[in-house]
Amino acid sequence: MTTKTHVLALDQGTSSSRSIVFDGQGRIVAMAQREFRQIYPQPGWVEHDPEEIWQSQLDTAREALAKAGLTAADIAAIGITNQRETTVVWNRRTGQAIHNAIVWQDRRGEPLCAQLREHGHAEAIRASTGLVVDAYFSASKIRWILDHVPTAHIDAAHGDLAFGTIDSWLLWKLTGGHVHATDVSNAARTMLFDVRHNTWDHELLKLLHVPDSLLPQVHPSSHVFGESLPGLLGAAIPIAGMAGDQQSALFGQACFSAGLAKNTYGTGCFMLMHTGPKFQLSANGLITTSAAQPNTTAQYALEGSVFIGGAVVQWLRDGLKAIQGSGEVQALAESVPDAGGVMFVPAFTGLGAPYWDANCRGAIVGLTRGSTVAHIARAALESIAFQSAALLQAMSKDAVAAGGAAVSELRVDGGACVNDLLMQFQADLLGIPVVRPQVIETTALGAAYLAGLATGVWRNTDELAALWQAERRFHPTLSRERAAERMAQWEQAVRQTTAA
Ligand code: G3P
Repeated sequence: MTTKTHVLALDQGTSSSRSIVFDGQGRIVAMAQREFRQIYPQPGWVEHDPEEIWQSQLDTAREALAKAGLTAADIAAIGITNQRETTVVWNRRTGQAIHNAIVWQDRRGEPLCAQLREHGHAEAIRASTGLVVDAYFSASKIRWILDHVPTAHIDAAHGDLAFGTIDSWLLWKLTGGHVHATDVSNAARTMLFDVRHNTWDHELLKLLHVPDSLLPQVHPSSHVFGESLPGLLGAAIPIAGMAGDQQSALFGQACFSAGLAKNTYGTGCFMLMHTGPKFQLSANGLITTSAAQPNTTAQYALEGSVFIGGAVVQWLRDGLKAIQGSGEVQALAESVPDAGGVMFVPAFTGLGAPYWDANCRGAIVGLTRGSTVAHIARAALESIAFQSAALLQAMSKDAVAAGGAAVSELRVDGGACVNDLLMQFQADLLGIPVVRPQVIETTALGAAYLAGLATGVWRNTDELAALWQAERRFHPTLSRERAAERMAQWEQAVRQTTAA
């Protein structure tokens, strides 16, 4: 076990690669970030260049170490967290990706998913993977690459190809091609992994014609996966934690047991509630996923996502031109006492859980002659909280149905959680405290914790729970009757939108 106390977290997200050095108290010492290209070959398709991802990640790791005034020899471990589902297939011999990464947002796998649904496979897939059949997950992306890259079938049959989500790709690169592995929380996003037994689902692999030889080995999220090549960062560092970014944030928020929930307010919002070691299917439109696993005991979470969260503020800025910078939204929204009856349903790309309507589109309803752009801005902010509240209500119903208690507080992170107006309104709608931690970089922190646990920087999750500190608690101030009326207005606006 190590005497070193610093951990390097690599946070490979959809729009940027970031690296953060944390100290033994879970505090940020230094951070570096690089954006990289988004590639849109045709409408509905989104790709990344895997080499650019790797290079940007490596550059930020070097920069973060330099900014921290540390060398690789001072670092106890590396933790990796990543945009999930995004799919890379590479040649094991050359180490070259055979196609660009197909990003989680990419819809090209939809025809295959429609076929699976039409042929009645949805229920069996859900029972094993916990997921709804959707192009979001990796399976149809892998299939697409195998079907469209010349010779991919033959190379796959010879065992020359490797598939990985971004964690596996980075691990492969960091170890110079020595280790091809992933963790349960990333495997759970492929739609090929049996989350109840923590193994690849061989029936599903056959159904989708994905050869076993493509797949990474699956380990708990806290595990010494390998060591970085000494030449990359100056010395070999154990890579000892890996988790998908949303599960990593759940871990970084110290949500280690059933009933604890977090919401990440980014471009979209991702809400996860830990359900402990119990695999539970939602009766309310949520998916079931593996939570980050500190050891070999399976851990689960229910998850729901809001497609347009903070992105609605970008639309106010770039589409409506109501503000010049995102930071102006709070002041504009606060310039009116309420939204004046305006409701904004930002279904720009349809609605996710718990509504699941891919075809509906956005609407602003309740406009009067007195409505101003400030009312629209306020309604836009409120829409983030309404959508998140609908998810939390669904989770609480599932928790109670499983014999547990309703969620009693919501831990928040992500860029938009700094908006006090939004957080207060969120608490008002939910009727439970909304708690913002001191470190809101919980995604990277989760990966650091997982890596530090495997290498002895921290002893156990109790120690981590003691490090978690609230910066501010937003207590509900609205009466429950008024909150219920507001939620009813929201549901009414959603009905108008989905019926249109
Ligand atoms: O499932 C997609 C999610 O992991 C993406 O997260 O933060 O990279 O947009 P982010």
